[in-house]
Amino acid sequence: MSKVRVAVIGAGSISNVHLTAYAANPNVELVAICDLNGERAKGKAEQYKASRTFTDYKELLADPNIDAVSICTWNKTHAEISIAALEAGKHVLCEKPLCKTVEEALKVQDAVRRTGKLLQVGYVRRFGQNVQTLRKFIDAGELGDIYYAKASCLRRLGNPGGWFADGERSGGGPLIDLGVHIIDLCWYLMGKPKVKSVSGNSYRKLGNRKHIDNLAFYKAADYDADKNDVEDLANALIRFENGASLFVDVSFTLHAKKDELTVKIYGENGGAEIEPELQIITEKHQTILNVTPQIDQPSFEFQQAFQAEINHFIDCCQGNAELLSPVEDGVEMLKILSGIYQSAAEGKEVEW
Ligand SMILES: NC(=O)c1ccc[n+]([C@@H]2O[C@H](COP(=O)([O-])OP(=O)(O)OC[C@H]3O[C@@H](n4cnc5c(N)ncnc54)[C@H](O)[C@@H]3O)[C@@H](O)[C@H]2O)c1
Repeated sequence: MSKVRVAVIGAGSISNVHLTAYAANPNVELVAICDLNGERAKGKAEQYKASRTFTDYKELLADPNIDAVSICTWNKTHAEISIAALEAGKHVLCEKPLCKTVEEALKVQDAVRRTGKLLQVGYVRRFGQNVQTLRKFIDAGELGDIYYAKASCLRRLGNPGGWFADGERSGGGPLIDLGVHIIDLCWYLMGKPKVKSVSGNSYRKLGNRKHIDNLAFYKAADYDADKNDVEDLANALIRFENGASLFVDVSFTLHAKKDELTVKIYGENGGAEIEPELQIITEKHQTILNVTPQIDQPSFEFQQAFQAEINHFIDCCQGNAELLSPVEDGVEMLKILSGIYQSAAEGKEVEW
């Protein structure tokens, strides 16, 4: 089978993990890299042995010798670049979130259906070894109906600055950036129930706390702490049509003792903690059991999950697998995220 010829659009911080994973996949030929910053694109092209670089993604998409693209740009550009890529006949792996609004998401979905090309939403957490292991237990009915989930991703100091902190380019703060991962993870493991209503709160109390010294955190390639108009904390209660509910909170900064990542789901026959470490909770012979699956990665591991995500995308491009995170899952998530922002702004529950 011939190799998939791949280009990466957006050569900032997260592109490194995409590029490393493509480089390690024997079915990939990495051909081009594009960034508004030409020097950045050239640097990455040298490092990862891509022969061509671009500063205008439209020129890249005009090249018929490219089969598929990863989109690793600011959230604001995801819809526009995804649609253009699909229309140019390319398969697309689009970083999360799919885009900024439900309207944009529906346009991307329409382009997928119109062109027949693939679009995988970059829900990398689904590809964690802990998640895929748990999936087998859930699919075998061992947790029963999952009716409650609870997830927190709290950074005490971690506003990535630059475009992440500029609502116009990002679509929001920790909710759209971090919440998208943990809400999606719970929703996916709960069997993707249809959302019924959301009640959310968002706060801008602490700013980005750029005065704090001696603590490192993830930063945008063009880190700039001068602008920050996004929330620093959000929480929400999400209700689903099947009666299940999900409680979530996320922060870029908070007076918390330490960072916290917890993702837990509860079913009629058993429960599970996905983060901080995979555990399955059940009962047998009148006794409650906390079961610890013995796997290499009981917690989310960046490079393993990205490698699995990108290997899956390439398998799909070659017709050997079905998309695990199709565009429809991006649309439903935008509905949830936009609903939470709307609820927080209006101070009341939003229903569908
Ligand atoms: N899956 C994950 O865990 C994860 C982690 C971090 C970031 N992300 C996502 O990846 C995307 C990029 O984030 P990042 O941290 O790499 O940001 P970044 O700021 O480090 O890099 C973004 C790059 O995109 C370039 N760019 C922006 N618009 C462009 C355009 N129209 N054409 C070409 N290049 C363009 C910028 O010049 C910059 O180099 C975001 O959508 C973010 O949400 C995902």
